[in-house]
Amino acid sequence: MIITIDGPAAAGKGTLASALAERYHLAYFDTGMLYRAVGLDMILQGYSPEDEEKAEKIAQSLTFGKMIKLSEHPDFRSQIGGDAASKVSALPKVRSALLKMQQDFSLNPVFADGTPANGVVYDGRDTGTVVCPQADIKFFVVASPEVRARRRYKEFAAKGINISYEQVLADLLARDKRDSERSTAPLKPAPDAILLDTSGMSIQQEIDSAVKIIDKHSEA
Ligand code: C5P
Repeated sequence: MIITIDGPAAAGKGTLASALAERYHLAYFDTGMLYRAVGLDMILQGYSPEDEEKAEKIAQSLTFGKMIKLSEHPDFRSQIGGDAASKVSALPKVRSALLKMQQDFSLNPVFADGTPANGVVYDGRDTGTVVCPQADIKFFVVASPEVRARRRYKEFAAKGINISYEQVLADLLARDKRDSERSTAPLKPAPDAILLDTSGMSIQQEIDSAVKIIDKHSEA
């Protein structure tokens, strides 16, 4: 089974994707990690995240091993890392260099320890539209910008990252704009995606609604 979960930053995709992966014994592919790895590597090598030629080279040589190593860096999930990821992800050559890696994974999905999985849950922006248009079930998860900013602000605060709510909201809106206005694979729901608005939902309510939809789909 292949499930895709797309939507804007902090809409609740990651939490839902990992819960569904666990429940249905599927591998979880957080595709944002690829863009974060390329963006962070660009910064660490002293390049501007908008330098398309350099970013393409880094994307072409990215491996899962290198991505995991970069994910241990303190800036991988920081505001700086998120901003660099958002900038490199707007570059068509970077998107094209990372596409095959994402598509190949569905042919032979494995868990982190290398054991085979029954399928995959993709989490990203274009996984239902570009990466895996043949997916069995597609979700497009949304929430209001204020709700998403509050969630992200709480995550940063829990990690001891000192940033204001207003700054988090402004950064999210800037990322939304870049994600939805880029020329290649802009953020938008697939025509057959199921819209899940998590603004007023708890994590459990979000998971329960998705499970209901998947189970109904599997019975059909
Ligand atoms: O999901 P996450 O916030 O980790 O993604 C980091 C950045 O990578 C996003 O801001 C988005 O611009 C980009 N991205 C993308 N396509 C994906 C996944 C992430 O453009 N499939």
